[in-house]
Amino acid sequence: MGYRVVVVGATGNVGREMLNILAERQFPVDELAALASRRSLGTEVSFGDKTLTTQDLDTFDFTGWDMALFAVGSAATKDYAPKAAAAGCVVIDNSSLYRYDPDIPLIVPECNPQAIHGYAKKNIIANPNCSTAQMVVALKPLHDRARIKRVVVSTYQSVSGAGKDGMDELWDQTKAVYNPTSEHPPKTFQKQIAFNVIPHIDTFMEDGSTKEEWKMVAETKKIVDTSIKVTATCVRVPVFVGHSEAVNIEFEEFLDEDEARDILRESPGIMVIDKRESGGYVTPVECVGDFATFISRVRQDSTIENGLNLWCVSDNLRKGAALNAVQIAELLGREVLKKG
Ligand SMILES: NC(=O)c1ccc[n+]([C@@H]2O[C@H](COP(=O)([O-])OP(=O)(O)OC[C@H]3O[C@@H](n4cnc5c(N)ncnc54)[C@H](OP(=O)(O)O)[C@@H]3O)[C@@H](O)[C@H]2O)c1
Repeated sequence: MGYRVVVVGATGNVGREMLNILAERQFPVDELAALASRRSLGTEVSFGDKTLTTQDLDTFDFTGWDMALFAVGSAATKDYAPKAAAAGCVVIDNSSLYRYDPDIPLIVPECNPQAIHGYAKKNIIANPNCSTAQMVVALKPLHDRARIKRVVVSTYQSVSGAGKDGMDELWDQTKAVYNPTSEHPPKTFQKQIAFNVIPHIDTFMEDGSTKEEWKMVAETKKIVDTSIKVTATCVRVPVFVGHSEAVNIEFEEFLDEDEARDILRESPGIMVIDKRESGGYVTPVECVGDFATFISRVRQDSTIENGLNLWCVSDNLRKGAALNAVQIAELLGREVLKKG
């Protein structure tokens, strides 16, 4: 006996990856429905060796379905997630809509699996922002050992974080640089993304930071510890898939770089690749399609009393979205629904 699972946004970057990961991890599925907007009604998507035909979210009845993995953006989530939840189907949502609601758990299974039981208040569980998810996987075990006081993070975020339109824009603009007869002015991004970097993701906040930067602050506190101070600069780079982060961490206690590397090596969801030689670190193209968050360049920061620097890379469509959502589904199954 397995689960009746709905993937909402099945034609998108994250939705397609959810279908791949449910199949790869052999999630116990009895029946699977793939939903998208009316625009893509009838579009075929792959689930393992099966082909599913997408249905219209607007007319779908969630009654009798166990869980729905949502990857459709906040506006559609606002309209449809409450309907699914009210029909008794547990929603695992990838948008930012519910992440900061105190009655909705925000979960990275490697960090705060105990929060799963909070799902019952609204029948909804939130999945974190992609840049936060990979960072907290690395922060949590280090925090447990030496108590993190402050984190300074700069991100190098791939265009797939902005959906399939973001990937198309990088592809089209890159081609247009070599073939200037076809123009592709910025649409998804604020400025040209091909051969460029843009220090602006999501909207501006009153204090001059962006919403993406604010998310890293608020979500790290909710998932790991409210006492951790985070300051972030989030940057879009012309990479298709894979987010990278340069992370500076200040601890309450001294933590030696060798011990930090050993702790990370033993921690779930992490692969340490850290050789002090040319190429002895991980770059985004190498992490695509992988489940792990990769840590490289671990080193002492001698400018502060208890500081470390590290480089953190992960497939943003996987740990940053689809994989984490499937891990939450596995956790929900194991701890709460107990079928399969
Ligand atoms: N990409 C990432 O790294 C990442 C990480 C964390 C969270 N997220 C979040 O995950 C969500 C999806 O992101 P994505 O990158 O997969 O976007 P995407 O590639 O643009 O795909 C969007 C999906 O949502 C569907 N959709 C949009 N509006 C809809 C509506 N009104 N009714 C039904 N379906 C609708 C689209 O269906 P059609 O094909 O029919 O238009 C498509 O399947 C967003 O909330 C995003 O913020 C993304």
